[in-house]
Amino acid sequence: MTSQNIYILAIESSCDDTAAAVMCNGKILSNIIASQKIHEEYGGVVPELASRAHQQNIVPVVDQALKQAGIDKTQLHAVAFTRGPGLMGSLLVGTSFAKSLAYGLNIPLIDVNHMQAHILAHFIEEDAFEQPPFPFLAMTISGGHTQIVRVDDYFDMTVIGETIDDAVGEAFDKSGKLLGLGYPAGPEIDKRAKLGNPKAFKFTKPKVDGLNFSFSGLKTAILYFIQKEVKANPQFIETHLNDICASIQYTIIGILMDKLKKAVKQTGINHIAIGGGVSANSGIREALKNAEGKFGWTTYVPKFEYTTDNAAMIAIVGYLKYLEGNYADQSVMASARLKI
Ligand code: KG4
Ligand code: ZN
Repeated sequence: MTSQNIYILAIESSCDDTAAAVMCNGKILSNIIASQKIHEEYGGVVPELASRAHQQNIVPVVDQALKQAGIDKTQLHAVAFTRGPGLMGSLLVGTSFAKSLAYGLNIPLIDVNHMQAHILAHFIEEDAFEQPPFPFLAMTISGGHTQIVRVDDYFDMTVIGETIDDAVGEAFDKSGKLLGLGYPAGPEIDKRAKLGNPKAFKFTKPKVDGLNFSFSGLKTAILYFIQKEVKANPQFIETHLNDICASIQYTIIGILMDKLKKAVKQTGINHIAIGGGVSANSGIREALKNAEGKFGWTTYVPKFEYTTDNAAMIAIVGYLKYLEGNYADQSVMASARLKI
């Protein structure tokens, strides 16, 4: 693409992780994340605390990213940042910092859509990872998002399905809360699900039209189920925890796979890429692997550190936009509800 080394600094601060990464020509040189532990005791992200923590973390995180990449800030060609979607107070910290740095260094500023970044993370150059060919379907599943996107080119994306209420990660986390598990509960449910019987308990799947999702009904169904069982047996949760976790996970994966199958049928596209924190789930990974043999799909899961919120995915979008000369103006504003 270019004979010159292009260095991009990327900043991500849309939710509760302050992250910075340095990329050179599509390859990651450093990928630093300061996760905010403070939210654990509240059982969810507290926006006010998140923006304060970003303000505290941002300079040390950027400094570490530059040091680990072995470059000086004067070598940077552009600064990329997450413009949205996300929590406004959190986005403002990264946006303001990126603007000031780009202005001070007199280099281009590049705005990045967080949801596009989750998808384009598949194009970070990594030896052992294959990049999906266009067109492909991307399913972004995390604590903040649940979408199925048709991707015809890097910046030609169409959302063909999304949640009408909770995100799938919230379904894991809120169910976990009902079971007395810590936050976030997704990884713990995944671990316990491996030891339980997925068909021990049956939860009704929501009926939602087309390719859209709904997870709030499932949470209520689980709540009523647990209340009923605990009334009959106060030790119900303790004695059946692995089976309950396995059954919840089985139901959630069933919901995701049903919609993916529908999306493949509707579009005729059978290259499927996933991203977002929930793509770490061993059950969804297994279901996708099985779909390769069963339905002839080709599936793509990015390297683990590029699935959860990170700045490496912001860097690849920054790099692709840099090559196109697609820069932001210094008057650009953070946008909490930015669409793909
Ligand atoms: O992408 P992410 O780090 O942050 C955003 O929400 O954007 O995703 C975090 C979500 C949480 O809801 C967490 O419970 C879920 O991903 N998660 C998992 C697993 N690992 C993380 N859910 C199910 N199984 C997992 N192994
Ligand atoms: Zn995200």
